[in-house]
Amino acid sequence: MHVLVLGGTTEARELAGALHPVPGLRVTSSLAGRVAAPRLPVGEVRIGGFGGADGMARWIRDNAVDAVIDATHPFAETISFNAAGAAATAHVPLLALRRPGWVAGPGDDWREAGSLAQAARAVAGAGRVFLTTGRTGLAAFASVDDAFFLVRSVDAPEPPFPPHMEVLLDRGPFTLEGERDVLARHRIDVLVTKDSGAAATAPKLAAAREAGLPVIVVRRPPVPAGVPAVPTAAAAAAWVQSLAPGAVSG
Ligand SMILES: NC(=O)c1ccc[n+]([C@@H]2O[C@H](COP(=O)([O-])OP(=O)(O)OC[C@H]3O[C@@H](n4cnc5c(N)ncnc54)[C@H](OP(=O)(O)O)[C@@H]3O)[C@@H](O)[C@H]2O)c1
Repeated sequence: MHVLVLGGTTEARELAGALHPVPGLRVTSSLAGRVAAPRLPVGEVRIGGFGGADGMARWIRDNAVDAVIDATHPFAETISFNAAGAAATAHVPLLALRRPGWVAGPGDDWREAGSLAQAARAVAGAGRVFLTTGRTGLAAFASVDDAFFLVRSVDAPEPPFPPHMEVLLDRGPFTLEGERDVLARHRIDVLVTKDSGAAATAPKLAAAREAGLPVIVVRRPPVPAGVPAVPTAAAAAAWVQSLAPGAVSG
């Protein structure tokens, strides 16, 4: 049985690690190739786009894929919709692996934004903004010229980006101590984040709470209609087992 894991997340690497040693199972992880030096999962890896939903359907057929798990980032919307189309065209089962979103607790001052564009409107004139939504969404903030942005990203961003900006090249996991230091050192007034739900990037939320800072939380896009979803790599591995109980013994 050949399983295609659409990856680029911690959970996708966990899933590849769980499935890799299973006898009778071939696992291929797919990465977009967006990051210069990606963290690689164990086992077979392919890198680069498929060429839309049709290209992915072709890849599924050409490589005799039996099942697809979309373990991409909750905000990687296009690839998730492509996966839904490709799985339907190629007649293979598809599962979405989506970690749960963050939940506000006592002392949090969170304001929800429906999109990056709405988050950009919310921070106009808001002072010094810590922007942790990734370099690919920076264009949404490019016209905000009355705020300063501290932009944290793995690789250096390319234009368009906001006129008043400093870039902090870094990649999680982050610590509470480190996040406190960033907020204080850069005299941050407001934090902007996607609701990624990742443990590795959650300490910024605790640091903002401690500092009494507001947080603009960008809401997730929905999982494509009709695609079942599970919250953990273990649950996704169990789903694979349910498809091929004979092949998957461990
Ligand atoms: N969006 C985020 O905030 C974020 C954060 C952390 C990690 N990531 C990871 O980074 C990757 C790119 O994110 P994105 O938001 O740019 O995606 P996206 O907008 O949903 O996808 C854009 C295009 O990139 C290609 N692609 C995306 N993920 C791929 C994968 N796993 N394997 C092969 N091709 C892929 C596809 O190209 P074709 O149409 O040519 O197939 C897709 O149409 C994702 O895999 C995601 O898991 C994203």
